[in-house]
Amino acid sequence: MSKVVLITGANQGIGYELVKLLAANPEVQKVYLGARNPKSGQEALNAIKGEGFNNVQFIKIDVTDPTSITAAKSEIEANDGKLDVLVNNAGIGEFSSDQNALTVDVATVRRTVETNLFGLIQVCTTFVPLIRKSPQAAILNVTTDMASNHLQAGRPILHLVAYNTSKAAANSYTIALANELKKDGVKVNAVTPGFTSTNLNNHGVGGKTPKQGAETLVKWALLDKDGPTGQFFDEHGKEFPW
Ligand SMILES: NC(=O)c1ccc[n+]([C@@H]2O[C@H](COP(=O)([O-])OP(=O)(O)OC[C@H]3O[C@@H](n4cnc5c(N)ncnc54)[C@H](OP(=O)(O)O)[C@@H]3O)[C@@H](O)[C@H]2O)c1
Repeated sequence: MSKVVLITGANQGIGYELVKLLAANPEVQKVYLGARNPKSGQEALNAIKGEGFNNVQFIKIDVTDPTSITAAKSEIEANDGKLDVLVNNAGIGEFSSDQNALTVDVATVRRTVETNLFGLIQVCTTFVPLIRKSPQAAILNVTTDMASNHLQAGRPILHLVAYNTSKAAANSYTIALANELKKDGVKVNAVTPGFTSTNLNNHGVGGKTPKQGAETLVKWALLDKDGPTGQFFDEHGKEFPW
């Protein structure tokens, strides 16, 4: 298989490391390193090329900007005619803002939902026609254990309401998308890399390295036609409650 992969939000953090892990995999022909900021994207690409990767290409994609999503789709279609793997990794947390249920500013919720939910949906709906052209396609939505409603309702853990709510809603969309794409054989799953020290959490102490976070995602990006769909997996590869 010569898979063509797109990873959004891949100029830093988990997405950046995932680019390298997938580019090094023999199943992968090309990885598109998605970034909203061309300067950051180009710098990330240069660093990756400096490590000897020649099958990585920068692509501008801001998940909150439908024009850039459509342009990215047209570029990949012209170059490759299909997309085998879409990793919806781009995300924001706004962890420095008040995220208590009683006092959160709705503007904070709106911004996180704009990126983590509306952006993800727009990327999926735009790319599905290209994904359908792949004989072995997978969509991997990068989520968080903190977005598990089951977990939060039973044994509450840290609830950052803007972030968690946006990711829980994205999980719900993941279920719907998986069901609708089942007949086409497209695998759609939500996977959490677990606590990873990145810019998202101000490089919180005690987390995995971005590379370790990315390693948890590889097998879900490269699922074969017998792989699972419509499921939520934790950082150890075990099924997790929605
Ligand atoms: N770190 C954790 O502990 C953890 C745990 C569970 C899940 N996750 C999830 O893992 C994913 C990656 O996060 P990370 O920890 O690697 O954080 P990160 O280092 O902050 O990376 C986030 C990436 O998303 C990009 N991004 C933000 N808004 C975007 C937009 N509108 N369009 C395109 N790209 C956009 C960022 O671009 P800029 O550089 O331009 O800002 C950056 O490249 C996120 O979905 C996050 O929710 C992380």
